[in-house]
Amino acid sequence: MTLINLAYLVAAIFFILGLKGLSSPRSAPRGNMLGAVGMLIAIIATLVNKEVLSFGWIIAGMVVGSAIGAYIARKVQMTQMPEMVALLNGFGGAASLLVALSQFILTPNVYHTTSWLVALTLSALIGAVTLTGSLVAWAKLQGYAEKALKIPNQNLLRMVLGLGALVLAVLFVWQGGGLILFLLMVASLALGILLVVAIGGADMPVVIALLNSYSGLAAAATGFVLMNNGLIICGSLVGASGIILSKIMCKAMNRSLGSVLFGGAMVSDEQMASIPGKEFYEGKVKSCGAEEVAMMLENAQKVVIAPGYGLAVAQAQHVTQELANTLAKRGVDVKFAIHPVAGRMPGHMNVLLAEAEVPYDKLIEMDNINPEFSQTDVTIVLGANDVTNPAARDDSASPIYGMPILEVDKSRTVIVIKRSLSPGFAGIPNQLFINDNSMMLFGDAKAVLQDLVRAVNEL
Ligand code: TAP
Repeated sequence: MTLINLAYLVAAIFFILGLKGLSSPRSAPRGNMLGAVGMLIAIIATLVNKEVLSFGWIIAGMVVGSAIGAYIARKVQMTQMPEMVALLNGFGGAASLLVALSQFILTPNVYHTTSWLVALTLSALIGAVTLTGSLVAWAKLQGYAEKALKIPNQNLLRMVLGLGALVLAVLFVWQGGGLILFLLMVASLALGILLVVAIGGADMPVVIALLNSYSGLAAAATGFVLMNNGLIICGSLVGASGIILSKIMCKAMNRSLGSVLFGGAMVSDEQMASIPGKEFYEGKVKSCGAEEVAMMLENAQKVVIAPGYGLAVAQAQHVTQELANTLAKRGVDVKFAIHPVAGRMPGHMNVLLAEAEVPYDKLIEMDNINPEFSQTDVTIVLGANDVTNPAARDDSASPIYGMPILEVDKSRTVIVIKRSLSPGFAGIPNQLFINDNSMMLFGDAKAVLQDLVRAVNEL
C-alpha cells in the first residue's frame, strides 16, 4: 500500500509539472507528455492494487473505451473540440455517479462513517449535475438548442431544486436509504439541466470549463469513497484548474462568473433591440483585392496577423504560415497577435498556429502586442471580429464594453479578411470595418490567403 501511495505521489508530481508546462505554447507538448506519464503511473499503481478482484472487466472496459476514444479523437474536427470536451466532462460525471451508486448497492449491511457517506453523497450529487449539465452544453454547441431557454422564474426554480437536493443530501447522510439516494440523484440530474439550459450558447465555453471543474470535484469525492489517493489528487487538480480557467475566460470576455451562470444570455433583449442593422455599414466600407494588398505588404516593414475564429473555420493555418514565411523572406517583420478568447476555446489560435509550425516566439500575447500596433504598417485581421472591435474600448453602451481587445485599429493600415459583413460571436457590428484606415478583403480565409501568397510571389 505504501508503494502504491508513493506511486500516486510521483504521478501527482508529474501532473503538476504537466499543468505548469501547459501554461506556455512552447512547453505545452512537454507538459502534455508529462501529464500522460503521470496518468500511466497512476493507472498502473491502481491496477497492481491487491484490492482489484477481477481484471476481466477492467481489460474489457479499457479495450472498448480506448477503441471508441481513438476513433473519436481521429474523427473530430478542430472546430468540434469544445463539444468533445463537453461530452468527456459528462462521462466523468457519469462515472462518479455510477461509482457512488454501486458502492451504496454493494455494501448494504456495512456500517459507514459519516465522512464516507458525505463523500458518496457529493460524488452522486456533483456527478449527476455534471452529467446532465454537460449533455445540455454539448447539445447547445452542436446547435440543437443554441439560444438561452427562458424558463419563467428560472433562478427561483434553480434555487428550490438546489435547496431540495441539499436537504436530500443531508437526509441521506443522516439516515441513509436507497429511496433518498434515488430522489437525490433525480433532483441532481434535473438541477444539471436547469443550470445550463438557461445559459446562452455564447457563454457555453465558460460553462464547459466550469463543468470540467465539477467533474474533477466529483472525481475527488469518488476518491474518498474508494479510499483512492490517486483519484483524490487527480480530481482536486482538475477541479482547481477548471475553476481558474473559468475565471480567466470570464475576465477576457469582461463577464463575471455570476452573470454567466445566472444572467441568461450574453446580450440582453434590450441591448439586442438597440444593435444597429445593415445600415451601420451602408456606404462606409472600402473593399480591396489580393493584388492591392500584396503591394501594401511588399512595401511594409512590419506586419501583424490577428487571427480569430474564421481561421479555424477555414482551416487556413498552413497557408497563413506560408504567407508569413513568404513575407519574412522579403525582409518583412511578421508577428501574430493572440487574444486570449479568440476562436471558441482557450488557446484555440495557439493550437492552430502550432499545427502549422509557426515559431512560438512569433505568437505575441495581447498585452505585449498592443503597444506595437502603432508602429505596425499593415495588420491583417484574419477571420477575427469581436476581439478587434473598438466598441469594446470606446462605446460604453456596447454589450462587449470592457472586454480587452487587440488594438489593431491603431495600425497604419488594417486589412480585414472575412466572407461578409456578418457579425461575430457577440452578434454586434464592428466599428473597425468602417474606420478610415481599414479595408475589407472579402472571401474564405484560405482561398483569399492562397491568392495573396500568389500575388506576393508575382510581384
Ligand atoms: P468572432 O467574433 O466569432 O468572429 C469570427 C469571424 O470569422 C466572423 O465574423 C466570420 O465572418 C468570420 N469567418 C467565419 N468563417 C470564415 C471563413 N471561412 N473565412 C473567413 N472568415 C470567416 O471571432 P473572434 O474575433 O475570434 O472572437 C471570439 C468570440 O468568441 C469572442 O466574442 C469571444 O468572447 C467568444 N468566446 C470565445 C471563447 C474562447 S475560450 N475562445 C469562449 C467563449 C466565447 P463571416 O461570416 O463574414 O466570414
